[in-house]
Amino acid sequence: MEKTFVMVKPDGVKRGLIGAIVARFENKGFTLVKGELMQLSREKAEVHYGHLRAKPFFGELVDFITSGPVFAMVLEGKDAIKNSRLLIGATNPSEAGAGTIRGDFALDVEANIVHGSDSAENAEIEIERFFGKG
Ligand code: PPS
Repeated sequence: MEKTFVMVKPDGVKRGLIGAIVARFENKGFTLVKGELMQLSREKAEVHYGHLRAKPFFGELVDFITSGPVFAMVLEGKDAIKNSRLLIGATNPSEAGAGTIRGDFALDVEANIVHGSDSAENAEIEIERFFGKG
């Protein structure tokens, strides 16, 4: 069993989609281990997206992710990182297949409803970033 970090972004929280998104993961077989509604500080957002600092959309991305609460989660399941990313779909919802979360719920590459860790190493870092050690 593997753990991964997923968060419903402010667009998903504002649209009242937390339950629908959690249900997608639970229906697939994941277990929700932790879940918390939280407001990200700009400092934490800048660290979280630090690898994108050089991108032209970085400032806008930080504005967006701090524009309202996010629902941060730890999900557990078999090959959790690979399987959660398959369920989430491509970063750009226009390229995400039907049946994926972004394919079904989003239109915009920024407001793309959900974030999921892309590696075991990043999952560990992101879980600690949002929920602390242990
Ligand atoms: S990249 O560009 O290959 O480094 O993309 P990626 O690592 O998948 O992460 C991109 C995250 O930035 C958000 N975002 C955008 N991506 C691409 N283009 C534009 N214009 C853009 N605006 C915002 C995108 O939603 C990804 O967020 P996360 O939370 O990582 O999924």
